[in-house]
Amino acid sequence: MSTPPTFDRVIWPRHTARLTIRPATARDLPAVFAIRTLPQVGEWMPDRPATYEAFLLRQGEHHALGRTLVMELGDEVIGDLYLHVTDAWAQNEVEDQGRALQAEIGWCLDPAHQGHGYVTEAMGDVVRLCFEDLGVRRLTASAFAGNSPSLAVMERLGMRQETHGVRDSLHRDLGWVDSTVHALLVDEWRSQQ
Ligand SMILES: CC(C)(COP(=O)(O)OP(=O)(O)OC[C@H]1O[C@@H](n2cnc3c(N)ncnc32)[C@H](O)[C@@H]1OP(=O)(O)O)[C@@H](O)C(=O)NCCC(=O)NCCS
Repeated sequence: MSTPPTFDRVIWPRHTARLTIRPATARDLPAVFAIRTLPQVGEWMPDRPATYEAFLLRQGEHHALGRTLVMELGDEVIGDLYLHVTDAWAQNEVEDQGRALQAEIGWCLDPAHQGHGYVTEAMGDVVRLCFEDLGVRRLTASAFAGNSPSLAVMERLGMRQETHGVRDSLHRDLGWVDSTVHALLVDEWRSQQ
């Protein structure tokens, strides 16, 4: 029997002290587009679509709706979270034992709401969801090494830096720059609770 899509395995919405978290729907896309195309946000994101049509196309190509959660403060969508459950690397003979055990996480917040701990709060809940409800054993998050606010989120989530790539990532304005990968294992997370 195949595993149901990640978001179908969770009861939504989820609530934190200040926020509501739920899967993004097509109706959220104009708000997500508006935030992601702000210069200080698009600077660090994998893409900065020039038009709403290009954004929609890329969302479709990357199956993005099935991997995107939105954060709501009251009725306002203030940003989005990325959650993609994947298989762990495993040798062929044991690959079934590695199914759906890892997840990649990411985030993006309207600058008007930055500096209040909203992403740390929302991702804290998503990390718990991954480890307690989805059975994930390892989370990863990657970033340009110069993206200090994002690295700070990873540190606040208790993630550990695993790699520092030297001039391995091409930024559209900065050229070849360093990158990082942070990770968190379920037992590391448990020992921090
Ligand atoms: C990365 C990004 C989401 C970080 O936003 P942020 O607002 O700094 O992160 P948080 O919402 O977790 O808030 C943390 C900040 O609020 C402060 N804060 C205030 N109240 C807080 C609370 N209750 N809990 C935690 N932090 C709190 C923290 O001190 C921190 O500010 P500081 O960095 O000046 O010390 C944001 O910069 C962004 O969207 N950037 C563009 C997109 C991007 O880079 N995405 C990631 C690509 S890898």
